[in-house]
Amino acid sequence: WPMFADDIEAVLDLKRQRNAVLLAHNYQTPEIFHCVADSVGDSLALARKAMAVEADVIVLAGVHFMAETAKLLNPQKTVLIPDLRAGCSLADSITAADIRLLRQRYPGVPVVTYVNTSAEVKAESDICCTSGNAKAIVESLGVPRVIMLPDEYLAQNIAAQTDVEIIAWKGHCEVHERFTPADIRELRESHPGVTVLAHPECPPDVVAAADFSGSTAAMSDYVGQRKPARVVLMTECSMSDNVAVDHPDVEFIRPCNLCPHMKRITLANIRAALEHNRHEVTIDSEIAGRARLAVERMLAI
Ligand code: 13P
Ligand code: SF4
Repeated sequence: WPMFADDIEAVLDLKRQRNAVLLAHNYQTPEIFHCVADSVGDSLALARKAMAVEADVIVLAGVHFMAETAKLLNPQKTVLIPDLRAGCSLADSITAADIRLLRQRYPGVPVVTYVNTSAEVKAESDICCTSGNAKAIVESLGVPRVIMLPDEYLAQNIAAQTDVEIIAWKGHCEVHERFTPADIRELRESHPGVTVLAHPECPPDVVAAADFSGSTAAMSDYVGQRKPARVVLMTECSMSDNVAVDHPDVEFIRPCNLCPHMKRITLANIRAALEHNRHEVTIDSEIAGRARLAVERMLAI
């Protein structure tokens, strides 16, 4: 990518100067994902990698809740997010006060919270989960009923795979809620033989119409291991761009939806983040202590 060469070189230099690592989510654009990231992955992999970081500075190329998770696991390190406006419709759908009300309504029922939430919300939770481990986390609790929030569709998709009763919340991912079963029908008609992979934040009728559903890492692994001749990833647009680089023999069909929050992160603002030490993620220490417990319980499973 020659047009990015100057910024790529600057970011690589700045990372060395500042003893920094760059963790990038699978939805980051290819020049970030392939040229400057030290580690890439789904939300679970990024949390695991954050736990093992030895550098002084972590730059999170992803959205705010991911940077908060990295900070929770590294309270002594500097964690930077290149644009503070990189939010998430799921994280915005629920507050700590909402959880306190749910606990009053369902006394004794454990709260499993998707990592796509603020530290305040995690602090009110018993344990966190990601799309990659949600079923295992729900079943690890050994109870007949859990509250799982805030993604209604993820909760419904997990409920279809387990005997545990799941009480859901009404949050949705603004990227995945837009896919429909009609999209899949049209794709199968216009691209015979296409393999359809859907993220579990998609509505249940979309997941039911797909050939496979899994986290962004699971979708990437599926392509690598099964090598479908033609594939469509019902998820954020950069995912296909990134996976396609490693699989030139696979045909990627690309109806996709952009996440405006993920797209706030650019090579230029990653460079500026390292140059000017911005924007530093901070979390109130009392909230951080409780939120860290919920994340660490998840990582222990
Ligand atoms: P995963 O990468 O954990 O599947 O999450 C997808 C997502 O939407 C993150 O914002
Ligand atoms: Fe949030 Fe959806 Fe964007 Fe992920 S893709 S950051 S869940 S809005």
